[in-house]
Amino acid sequence: MFAEVARVVKGKGIASAIIANAENSAGGSGITEAIGDEIFAAGADVITLGDHVWSQKGTDGYLAHERRVARPANLPDACPGAAYVTVQTPVSPITVVSLLGRVFMQPAECPFLTADRVLSKLPGNCGPVFVEIHAEATSEKIALGRYLDGRVAAVAGTHTHVPTNDAAILPKGTAYITDLGMTGPIDSVIGRELAPVLRKFTTGMPSKFDVASGPAKLQGAIVDIERATGRAKSIEPFIWRESEPGKLEPR
Ligand SMILES: [Fe+2]
Repeated sequence: MFAEVARVVKGKGIASAIIANAENSAGGSGITEAIGDEIFAAGADVITLGDHVWSQKGTDGYLAHERRVARPANLPDACPGAAYVTVQTPVSPITVVSLLGRVFMQPAECPFLTADRVLSKLPGNCGPVFVEIHAEATSEKIALGRYLDGRVAAVAGTHTHVPTNDAAILPKGTAYITDLGMTGPIDSVIGRELAPVLRKFTTGMPSKFDVASGPAKLQGAIVDIERATGRAKSIEPFIWRESEPGKLEPR
């Protein structure tokens, strides 16, 4: 599925690099090395994670040696993995920083101050900087977008699995969207089977939330960056449906 989308965006020259959030790729929680390898082989250039970063056994060892995966930058410094990732694309290097939100989330360092700290350490030749804010609260994501406006190429939110309709170029030139949405089964509650989720909501009884099956969708956005200035020219959210593999639908 992801390979189909990668073929469309890279094969048609729509994008020169792909950043994929894969924090739910291992059966709905975390990532494994084998899955990471599969996503890179399918066309991703950088993988980001989120609050489920350590959900799978062995992720610490994987992140210690795979430098194309950005772990959340606002975890303690002692955690394995890269706080930012710079990769070469056919056009220029790009740098990716992923941050966890703190509102309605597990404890993490301040994403705002962490962004300042990471940006201050980046070398001058790291190319446009893409920041992911993996967070629950729309207000925190919007605030971070505004905080970083003009300092990075793009700020894009993830984690809620539900895309927002607010993609925009902020006043100082940063592309922004509160949430990109998800990749997963359409007939689901944010990717999980309906029945156990409904059981939990209607009875309060503990339920195992397995990943749903059936046709899937992939949601994301294409950000066009002006090479000379590093500013965003456009951000275009899209949806790809498994039923129509050759097509990216504007959203
Ligand atoms: Fe998450």
